[in-house]
Amino acid sequence: MPLFIANWKMYKTYDEAISFAKDHHEELVSLSKNGNQIIISPSFLCLDQFCKIFKGSSVSICAQNCSTKQSGPYTGEVDAPSLAQIGCQYTIVGHSERRHLFYETSYDIAAKIELLFQNKIVPIICIGETIATYLKGDTVNVLREQLESILFITKQYSLAYCIAYEPVWAIGTGKTPNSQELTDIFQWLSETVNDPKCTFLYGGSADEKNSAFLLQIPHVGGLLIGGASCNFQTLKKIVSLGQID
Ligand code: PGA
Repeated sequence: MPLFIANWKMYKTYDEAISFAKDHHEELVSLSKNGNQIIISPSFLCLDQFCKIFKGSSVSICAQNCSTKQSGPYTGEVDAPSLAQIGCQYTIVGHSERRHLFYETSYDIAAKIELLFQNKIVPIICIGETIATYLKGDTVNVLREQLESILFITKQYSLAYCIAYEPVWAIGTGKTPNSQELTDIFQWLSETVNDPKCTFLYGGSADEKNSAFLLQIPHVGGLLIGGASCNFQTLKKIVSLGQID
């Protein structure tokens, strides 16, 4: 059952996001069936409305981040308990944009995962190498390092989670790893993580032209889609390619 996570980043304003949800509500709900699961990740400000609009439907809602802290004097932060209270079922953590632009560390990411588990929210944990690492052939070492603090936490909980492999050099660039590279990485990930609670996702320039190819890579259980997910017709094409019947 492929997961399709629409990571809207900061692409849509509040009004644009709400219009998208209202205009395409019915089609999104019917697309999120027959073996497909659509998960929409709008900005924080839209989450409450989205949870209400899609309440009780087959479409799930995902936050793009959360605080490392449960509560307290942390101006501008958003706590995991509040995300759970509004009905948010998933949260992205460790996205490379957070790691590189906002200096998030492995410790921050581990703390967020723990808080999400405590609040019964499924973490979508992003890992991936930079272009420099890729060119040096050092990808697996970097992924192993990124996984270390994550697996330390996930082993302590019996709850489901996702690991999204997103090469930094593939995000928003139109480039993707080739079939052999993806096959090798996902095989290595599945052996290294070795956990039936984990669903593996691919992210980085996934679109309607390459999604069928990406979804047939062994161990890929879905896609984390940025830019291409902002257009309804494109998202529809991507999801339709994962349709089982
Ligand atoms: P992209 O982004 O699909 O626009 O490359 C993916 C992501 O950053 O999650």
